[in-house]
Amino acid sequence: MPTLAPSMIAADYGRLDAQAREALDAGAEWLHIDVMDGHFVPNITIGPGVVNALHPVANEYDALLDVHLMIENPERYIDAFADAGAGVITVHAEACPHLHRVVQQIQAAGCRAGVALNPATPLGHLEAILPKVDLVLVMSVNPGFSGQAFIPQSTNKIQRLRRQLNALGSKARLEVDGGVKPGNALKLVQAGADVLVAGSAVFGGDDTVEQNVEAFRSALTLKV
Ligand code: DX5
Ligand code: ZN
Repeated sequence: MPTLAPSMIAADYGRLDAQAREALDAGAEWLHIDVMDGHFVPNITIGPGVVNALHPVANEYDALLDVHLMIENPERYIDAFADAGAGVITVHAEACPHLHRVVQQIQAAGCRAGVALNPATPLGHLEAILPKVDLVLVMSVNPGFSGQAFIPQSTNKIQRLRRQLNALGSKARLEVDGGVKPGNALKLVQAGADVLVAGSAVFGGDDTVEQNVEAFRSALTLKV
């Protein structure tokens, strides 16, 4: 069963702790936290303070804070997010001219290092750094907002990346982020993803968070 990482961007910001608990009580193991600066992406969300506010509930559930930095110059904030309690810090390859150094910086800060690729960025961009990273995040929407449609070409990118990671004998996690629903989750796992980020599919709609997480679980239980 892959790791489900509900994306807190889609939660009710007025009840963030309660919504995190609902997701964790329902069985989610990670909390995905989207940090946006209004420059790298056309939206502004939260900073280290909110990660810090969610750290206690993550600790209570032994859950991991999966911090996705959609910001320019992320190297300036690695230590702040590590101190705030991040377990994984993912930076965008497109925002890091010195990506090797940033990956080293994240790992030196005691966090797992993730690298994210926007939909138009080819896998080749990661060739030199792939053996070093702990996670690769394949963006299946253009970053900035929750509730967007899944970009179909992402599935093939996941398949090719899975083959590359396997060829390296890498233990890195393969995370897909954007437009992930119970209806496409099994296909993404079969393509090679092992961490699924879901925002609107977990916190949106009329059903409860528990029902939404359960919908993923039943979609991912291989049909015998
Ligand atoms: C988009 C974010 C994603 C997004 C996921 O820039 O990185 O985490 O919020 O939300 P859904 O699952 O609704 O596409
Ligand atoms: Zn994200």
